[in-house]
Amino acid sequence: MTDFTETLKNFSQRFNQEISRFFIFPTGDEKRVCEAMHYSLSRGGKRLRPFLVYETANLFGIPFEQSINVGMALEMLHTYSLIHDDLPAMDNDDLRRGFPTCHKQFDEATAIIAGDGLLTYAFEIMSYPQTATDPATRCRLIEMLARAAGPFDGMVAGQMLDLIASTYNLQHQDSENIIKHIEEMKTGRLLSYAVEAGAVLGQSSAEQFENLTNYSRKIGIAFQIIDDILDATGNEQLVGKTLHKDTDQNKLTFVNLYGLDMAKQIATELINGAIKDLSSFNNKADNLCRLAYYIIERNH
Ligand code: IPE
Ligand code: IPE
Ligand code: MG
Ligand code: MG
Ligand code: MG
Repeated sequence: MTDFTETLKNFSQRFNQEISRFFIFPTGDEKRVCEAMHYSLSRGGKRLRPFLVYETANLFGIPFEQSINVGMALEMLHTYSLIHDDLPAMDNDDLRRGFPTCHKQFDEATAIIAGDGLLTYAFEIMSYPQTATDPATRCRLIEMLARAAGPFDGMVAGQMLDLIASTYNLQHQDSENIIKHIEEMKTGRLLSYAVEAGAVLGQSSAEQFENLTNYSRKIGIAFQIIDDILDATGNEQLVGKTLHKDTDQNKLTFVNLYGLDMAKQIATELINGAIKDLSSFNNKADNLCRLAYYIIERNH
C-alpha cells in the first residue's frame, strides 16, 4: 500500500505540473473566474480519475503525454462537480480538499461561474487534436464524457436524485435500488469514464473493453461507499472535508441503510470482483489492481 501511495503521489505531481499549461489568465477583471477555477483545480485532490485514464491507456502502450488531455479535462469536470456540490443550495460545505470551498474563498456567484468555466473548458480541451488525432475517436470520447457527466443517467442525474432522496425516509420501499442508482450515477459514471476513455485511447478490443468496463463499474460504486464510510468515521484533517454531513443532511447512503460493517463488506466484495475482471491483463494491470485495493483501504 505504501508503494502504491508513492505511485499515486508521483503521478499527481506530474499531473499538477501540467495544470499551468492549460491556464492563460486574461488581463481584465474577468480573470477572477479563471483564478477561482485554478484555485479549486490546483489545491489538493487525489487525481484518481486522471490516474485511471493514464493507467488504462498505458495498458496499451499509450504514454502520459497522449492521455493527459483526457485526464485534465476529466479532472476539471470532476472539480466543477465538487464546486457545485459544495454550494449552500446543495451540500453547503466550507471545506474541500483541506481548503476553503470555492464559494467561501471567493463568493457564491463566482463559484457557480467557476464551475461553469471548468465544465465548458473541459469540452474545449477534449476537442483539441492533441486529445486524440483521429477525429472519430475524439468525437466518441466527447460523447461518452457528455453522457457520463449528463442529466439522463450520468453525474448530473445522480446529483438530482441524491438531493431528492434526502427527503425520503429509510423505510422507503425502494431504498436499496435507489441508493445503488444514486451512487452509480453521481460517482460511478465519471470513474467508469476514466477507464473507458483509457481503453478507447488504447484502441482496446471489444472483449478488453468489456472487462475494463466491468472493473470500472465495480470500483465506482465501491469508491462512493467508502466516501460515505469516511463521512461517518474518517479523520477530518486527513479527509479534508467537513464530516458527518450525510447523517445531518439525511442523505440516503449504504451506511445509513445497512450500517458500517455491511457497507464495508459490500465495498470489499465489489473490489474483489473488480480485480477478477482484470485477470486477462496479467501483471500489466498491477497498478489498476492496487488502485482497487487502495479504494477500500484509503483514509482520505
Ligand atoms: C469526492 O471525490 C467526491 C466523490 C465523487 C465521492 P474524490 O474523493 O475523488 O475527491 P478528490 O478529487 O480526491 O478531492
Ligand atoms: C458528491 O458526492 C458527488 C459529486 C460531486 C458528483 P458527495 O456529496 O458525497 O461528495 P463529498 O463527500 O461532498 O465529496
Ligand atoms: Mg453531495
Ligand atoms: Mg458533498
Ligand atoms: Mg460524501
